[in-house]
Amino acid sequence: MSDLQPLFDNNRRWVRERLTNDPDYFERLSSLQAPKYLWIGCSDSRVPANQITNLMPGEVFVHRNIANLIVHTDMNALSVIQYAVEVLKIEDIIVCGHYGCGGVKAAYENSQLGLLDNWLRNIKDVYHSHRDELDSIAKPEHQLDRLCELNVMKQVSNVCHTTIVQNAWAKGQKLAVHGLIYDLSNGLLQDLSIRINNADQLGNIYQMKPRQRKTDDTLKKTG
Ligand code: CO
Repeated sequence: MSDLQPLFDNNRRWVRERLTNDPDYFERLSSLQAPKYLWIGCSDSRVPANQITNLMPGEVFVHRNIANLIVHTDMNALSVIQYAVEVLKIEDIIVCGHYGCGGVKAAYENSQLGLLDNWLRNIKDVYHSHRDELDSIAKPEHQLDRLCELNVMKQVSNVCHTTIVQNAWAKGQKLAVHGLIYDLSNGLLQDLSIRINNADQLGNIYQMKPRQRKTDDTLKKTG
């Protein structure tokens, strides 16, 4: 028997249950995906987007990585955002962190883990930017909780700073970016009350005007 047999058994049971409730379910879903949300979350196995929001297949487009980071040179994450915004016309992007995040904890500590250290460096930068606030918190576990929240806020900004999101806003496309955090200890999702839906909410240096095609004359002048 394959080591994966339990997964196949679960799958066949799930298909039977779905078809009992809705005989056309797979036929309908295979012809179209029209999710309303893009979820950017942690890879942590305890934070599965669909289950904790009780959404069905087809209802949420998902990108997950260690500590829910959006790094501005990450082609994988950027491609997901581009597809979600430009093709699927998603109206809500959710960056969801979680308390007790192992990635955030590893970044908070000083031991080396290998290649992963380069990824987690992004969270050390978040700590460094907010070190006065974080250092003023007495208990390490509360510092960590706050770092998880600040990391979500930073990643929300990173999503908004992409030209993908800013071009969508410039075209008048309805799009909001939200920051949420999930509590492993009680299963509750909390809104960090961050909702960015236009470029005016961004720092001036990050605001990107859409590219305009240069005329022949301007091209000649600029060489
Ligand atoms: Co995590």
